[in-house]
Amino acid sequence: MLKRRTVLAAGAAPLALTLSACSQGSESSSGDSSEGGSVGIAMPTRSSERWLTDGKGVAEGLRARGYKTKLVYGDDDPEVQVSQIEKLIRQGVDALIIAAIDNKSLNDVLQQAADADIPVISYDRLILGTKNVDYYVSFDNEMVGLIQAHYIIDKLGLEDDKGPFNIELFAGSPDDNNTKYFFDGSMSLLQPFLDSKQLVVPSGETQLKQITTPRWDGPTAQKRMSGLLTKWYRSERVDAVLSPYDGISRGVLSALKSGGYGSDLKPLPVITGQDAELASVKSIIAGQQSQTVYKDVRKLAEAAATMVDDILNDRSPWIDDSTGYKNGVKAVPAVLLQPVSVDKTNYDTLVTDGYFTAGELK
Ligand code: GAL
Repeated sequence: MLKRRTVLAAGAAPLALTLSACSQGSESSSGDSSEGGSVGIAMPTRSSERWLTDGKGVAEGLRARGYKTKLVYGDDDPEVQVSQIEKLIRQGVDALIIAAIDNKSLNDVLQQAADADIPVISYDRLILGTKNVDYYVSFDNEMVGLIQAHYIIDKLGLEDDKGPFNIELFAGSPDDNNTKYFFDGSMSLLQPFLDSKQLVVPSGETQLKQITTPRWDGPTAQKRMSGLLTKWYRSERVDAVLSPYDGISRGVLSALKSGGYGSDLKPLPVITGQDAELASVKSIIAGQQSQTVYKDVRKLAEAAATMVDDILNDRSPWIDDSTGYKNGVKAVPAVLLQPVSVDKTNYDTLVTDGYFTAGELK
């Protein structure tokens, strides 16, 4: 049985956390030992393979440290996620790891977690507007956007004064805090080339609110790209598409192929992505999607498991940034891992790292 503990976050004020252990079985529960207590893991969706890897990785990392785990997936529905977290709190978990679907929908349920002295780790996506989030583990999200923009700049030769080129911009889900980091990171590099007219956005859609993709949904992006091609590209050609995520990139690619792109006369544009999803890595190898941002989510899962174990054992967790990730109420102490650009020249990194087998990429 865990006892009342006091936790000191590096660079943050002491947090008094009362932790009560209570491990009840449930369909999604697993683990042999109850000594470490139990941890609730709330993931957003099964529709993208990365979140399956995340959920599995976090659960395995915790079980290896002696915890029971309760892993739930919210099917991209914020209300479902809230009720799942309420249930985890009722079941008496000792800590919560949450990748939010809607970063602002969790205030009430996180108050319940705080009332029960359950520490909360915001996983990958920062939870906004509440003091009841203790830590954040993620990748350097601004860096993701920088990497994507840098790829476009490099491939189009913008620094060698080439252009003008046509580009269209896509962003992620408006309710995901990462969306803004990716977009702002990219635009900080692209804006000078828009200003110099080396990059032109024929649709004129350059504001974040005009280009978001609710739920990061590929078919939604496909529809938007088709509409853009019909309206703005009758006599123009698109040279680059800024896409923040592989699922969106594949949607954009489908629209482009339907629009006749992919031949010598009408080559596919430079298209970025993120997550190194298998279908996108295969697309990169086949010369369709240009690039992705590889985030080894096994390491993210490991970082979250280590953090929970530290918190529940009165150790100060490792923190990379205690001021930069403000959620509207407080700066949430953050652990940030580094993303890596992958294209057809270096995709074998994924095999070397054991992220995919060589066979999977065939
Ligand atoms: C973001 C995440 C990205 C991508 C996207 C869609 O929050 O940081 O890596 O997975 O969600 O799932």
